[in-house]
Amino acid sequence: MSDPTRDQPLGHAHEADGIEEYDNQLPLWWVGLFVGTVIFGIVYAVDYHFISHRSQVKEYDAEMAAAPKAPEASVAVGAITPDMIAAGKEIFAANCVACHGADMHGGIGPNLTDSTWIHGGTYPEIVHTVTFGVPEKGMITWGPILGPEKIAQVAAFVHSSGGGQ
Ligand code: HEC
Repeated sequence: MSDPTRDQPLGHAHEADGIEEYDNQLPLWWVGLFVGTVIFGIVYAVDYHFISHRSQVKEYDAEMAAAPKAPEASVAVGAITPDMIAAGKEIFAANCVACHGADMHGGIGPNLTDSTWIHGGTYPEIVHTVTFGVPEKGMITWGPILGPEKIAQVAAFVHSSGGGQ
């Protein structure tokens, strides 16, 4: 038998364009879903904050700790040849004299012919300094500009110019 309380219009309160609203009970599955999600939300929040003690900050820290570290920047260097020094002299004249001076005694950049080094005076150290630069101090990062071959040459020239260690 049909329920006489079903499908009774609410009255004109919610009428629009002649369409009215019934005042039926919500379906059980809907109410169940609604109550279920509310309970789940409460349980989840209690677990998240007070039982498992999870947080976005902790997850971020854990991911950062697990992430692979960037490899230590380094460059491979070969042996210095006289040809490299000759080629490096021209590269130096074209790119470096503005700051280190034509005589390499310094200006904006430091003297490259004495035995005092900020970043080390061995050949690999000079290659490293020229490749990666010291941007915060005004020494250009030459790696992307000159490329490894020209840097090997200009560093060979610098190394052979008196201060090399
Ligand atoms: C725009 C100016 C500028 C130019 C151009 C420049 N340098 Fe430098 N360079 C500097 C400065 C400034 C420093 C000092 C960095 C510091 O104080 O750490 C420096 C430092 C260096 C050092 C390390 C010196 C040390 O004592 O450890 C080397 C080697 C060097 N430059 C080589 C070169 C070469 C080779 C070139 C050309 C390819 C070049 N620089 C072009 C400004 C320049």
